[in-house]
Amino acid sequence: MPYLSYLKTLAACLFLSLQLPAQSPAILTLHMNEPGTPVSPGLYGLMTEEINYSYDGGLYGELIRNRTFQDSAKTAAFWHLQQAPDGKSSISLDKKDPVNPSLPVSLRLDLEKDGKTAIANEGYWGIPVRPATTYQGSFYAKSSVAGSQPLIVILESADGKTAFASTEVTGITSQWQRYNFTITTAPGMQPAKDARFVIAARKQGSYWFSLVSLFPPTFKDRPNGNRSDIMQLLADMHPAFLRFPGGNYLEGQIFSARFNWKKTIGPIDQRPGHLSPWKYRSTDGMGLLEFLGWCEDLNMEPLLAVFAGYTLNRDYLEAGPFLQPFVDDALDEIEYVTGDVNTKWGAQRAKDGHPRPFTLRYVEIGNEDAFDVSGSYEGRYTQFYAAIKAKYPSLQIISTVGGKDPLGGRFPAPQNKTEIVDEHYYRTASEMEENAKQYDSYDRKGPKIFVGEWATREGYPTTNFNAALGDAAWMTGMERNSDLVIMSCYAPLFVNVNPGGMQWKSNLIGYDALNAFGSPAYYAQKLFSTHIGDSVIKITADNIPTQLTKLTARDSSAGLQPKSIDALFFVATRDSKKNMVYIKIVNTQPTAQPVKINLEGSGKVSRNGTEWVLKADKPEDTNSITEPQKIVPIQSAIKGLGKTFTRTLPPWSITVLQLEAR
Ligand code: AHR
Repeated sequence: MPYLSYLKTLAACLFLSLQLPAQSPAILTLHMNEPGTPVSPGLYGLMTEEINYSYDGGLYGELIRNRTFQDSAKTAAFWHLQQAPDGKSSISLDKKDPVNPSLPVSLRLDLEKDGKTAIANEGYWGIPVRPATTYQGSFYAKSSVAGSQPLIVILESADGKTAFASTEVTGITSQWQRYNFTITTAPGMQPAKDARFVIAARKQGSYWFSLVSLFPPTFKDRPNGNRSDIMQLLADMHPAFLRFPGGNYLEGQIFSARFNWKKTIGPIDQRPGHLSPWKYRSTDGMGLLEFLGWCEDLNMEPLLAVFAGYTLNRDYLEAGPFLQPFVDDALDEIEYVTGDVNTKWGAQRAKDGHPRPFTLRYVEIGNEDAFDVSGSYEGRYTQFYAAIKAKYPSLQIISTVGGKDPLGGRFPAPQNKTEIVDEHYYRTASEMEENAKQYDSYDRKGPKIFVGEWATREGYPTTNFNAALGDAAWMTGMERNSDLVIMSCYAPLFVNVNPGGMQWKSNLIGYDALNAFGSPAYYAQKLFSTHIGDSVIKITADNIPTQLTKLTARDSSAGLQPKSIDALFFVATRDSKKNMVYIKIVNTQPTAQPVKINLEGSGKVSRNGTEWVLKADKPEDTNSITEPQKIVPIQSAIKGLGKTFTRTLPPWSITVLQLEAR
């Protein structure tokens, strides 16, 4: 075909396809005058653990990497020597004369001759600096140099050519002492994400350093606090609770690497830190009280998971006397969280700076204990359950075994003692869509469900728009059934997007040293959690378009065939106090989809409303550190509403409609 004719045919086809009527309308009838099931006010929460540099190198404000020199036994990892002019200075790790047992190593700097020599820290993939900002720093130091000259502290550019800020620390003696300082950048400087932190000496001799720390201003100025930009992203989601401290991080690879909460409280110089199961050391700067402070700052309820005598290498303690110390440890932990100042651990919390007890309603026993193929969980759970209920009868106990997820199905939940079961789902978008109705048919007489980890795993380091579609379809199912599914939280929450930062592909929020961004899935969750009523409105649906499931390689090799499933997912809730209705509809198709909405049995319906649309040009599109806002919800005022109205959903889109109806 000649080129011109080809172009004409192409244009005609394009014109035709634009003229083609969109799909015939799907019809959603909302039964406004039927009583709806209640929506759990705690449905949307957060799950967190130290993974993907979530705290160290993430939310926790500390900027110095390897601040206690324990990240490597051989070298001062992430520290560098800035050599003296004679080239004869050196640094080494020194275990002699430690500051205290929690700080067993120091960094020794030897100057053969007078002349500026320094140690420099590279931070977590750079130290972020911003203009007109004051940083709070401290370190332990001692020196062999009698009456030594001041040490100079500098925040400088990666090439060492620009000093963004500097100060002097004086009075170093031959005895360990902690020195505090502040350092302030100039107003006009350009923000930098790859600065380094330097401590320089000039006088010949030896210097030792331990626990070197530097904090930027933190969220709500909390000491030892959190990064403000990430906290703000979380605050915008209005989360109801925080599940902590894991995840695998609770369990640890071996017993000594569990989240041993008693070693995470008190001054940071009393916290030895430990190796996380995600293969890097945790400072434990984010300790038990910091988790609780995080809850307080975002008005979230803590959901505390306690170590239950099982570790990731499948080691475990049978129920009985050997398990009892761990049960006692959990009771102490609950007392630390909730006890008044007259209790032993409540007094300790007060000493640590927080006299007021925290409110706690949920305690989870372990994490994913169905992996314990010995079957010891039932006995362990029962021992923890009995001890916790005896002392704290009003606490709700969560079992990690007994749900219908691929793990939980293997073992029965402890007989008659399961109030809530934690189910975990990591799936493809197609699997999420296929299972979006799974809770519609769950037994209402059994335990309540806590979906304590879930995510559509497509795209990395943060997930793409197709994952957001799968997530949103899945959320319609949880929300529609939130008389049963009382809580849910996505996992993992965070990832440091720098090379080496990610251990788990598919995460909700990404960041480098300077900037943070939400994935499309983050915006989908934010839309859901910030537009939710108190009861579910029953919907009958007609003419719903369908799609074929996409098989995974495993499905194909098992000989499975694609199934026809819905391509449109929806839920509606009502806020009875505000007379507001929220309708959420997910269109997983590449075509626009008209939807006719009938508010059957409704009183007056407002003519105007608001719509939020989250959409992408392609399912693979995503947000990233360089394009953080590529896919964000677009809000618009909408008109022409009433008891019956039609809206057209864009291809690949998540829509929330808000309207007033009595
Ligand atoms: O979210 C990542 C990991 O997945 C969690 O640590 C664990 O509980 C689950 O297997």
